[in-house]
Amino acid sequence: MTAPLLDVCHLTHVFRHGRLILRAVDDVSFQIQEGEIFGLVGESGSGKSTVARCVMNIYRPAKGSILFQGIDICDPRQRRANQKLLQTKRQLIFQDSASSLDQRMTVAEIVAEPMAIHRIVPPRGSLREEAKFQLYYVGLGEDCLDKYPTELSGGQRQRVAIARALSMEPALLVADEPIASLDVSIQAQILNLFRHLQEEHGFTFLFIAHDLAVVRYLCSRVAVMFRGKIVEIAPTGELFRDPLHPYTRALLSAIPIPDPQAERSRPLPPFDLPAPQGVLTEAAPGHYVLRSP
Ligand SMILES: Nc1ncnc2c1ncn2[C@@H]1O[C@H](COP(=O)(O)OP(=O)(O)OP(=O)(O)O)[C@@H](O)[C@H]1O
Ligand SMILES: [Mg+2]
Repeated sequence: MTAPLLDVCHLTHVFRHGRLILRAVDDVSFQIQEGEIFGLVGESGSGKSTVARCVMNIYRPAKGSILFQGIDICDPRQRRANQKLLQTKRQLIFQDSASSLDQRMTVAEIVAEPMAIHRIVPPRGSLREEAKFQLYYVGLGEDCLDKYPTELSGGQRQRVAIARALSMEPALLVADEPIASLDVSIQAQILNLFRHLQEEHGFTFLFIAHDLAVVRYLCSRVAVMFRGKIVEIAPTGELFRDPLHPYTRALLSAIPIPDPQAERSRPLPPFDLPAPQGVLTEAAPGHYVLRSP
């Protein structure tokens, strides 16, 4: 197997709340191969965004290492030596990407700005042509080029944010709940777009979501996080067929049932499970579960 694009190894990140120390991410390890959509799921507060922020060098982890294209991004010297590559080849799309677009800039300016900042010579002749190309990638026409974000729908704005990220030709897209603030109908469109980007253009994603239903549709492998730890990693089909950790089972049982009667009569999942402990153990090929040693 080739070296992973992203190799997260024993990652630990703590937050201090006064005298309390919270291990938001506790000894987390996973690898993402080039061209795959890797899902990270778990309930609110389980540590997903903290992992994403460590991967993006927004947080400096307390322990562990993160290799991106073989570069140890937690090592200041390696980070400095590869600054431009790290700023362009890793891109973050998040829930509020759409609303954080600069309202005073046109779509063309927004999409082309990172290229201008990084002084990248536009391969298609001009920054405007570049913006047009990236918009086409995400299913928006050139009629959007001169519009302002306020003139677009929420789904269109999120596409613009994605086009802006894609303009850097990233090797890795970190998508932290990128559809959570969109209407349900638009959510499906954006998910289809991600799938298209992966299947047709070979983009690699770390895709973060609350619920397994979205991940089931999109991801080739999934890691389940609970209270700062990964409790299970498996190929998606296998995780749904044969969930091994009690928390994964609880999450699966929380996927809404279309029948309202059945939905109402269903018991609530046991999210008050004890804090996870143990080590990730391979239960079947490629299927790891947290077990007491
Ligand atoms: N900047 C911060 N300062 C202090 N504590 C934080 C900070 N950010 C996150 N936390 C805490 O760390 C834990 C993990 O938070 P994180 O945002 O990573 O969870 P999450 O899985 O992304 O949740 P959500 O699904 O709600 O986005 C939570 O208990 C949270 O309260
Ligand atoms: Mg989060």
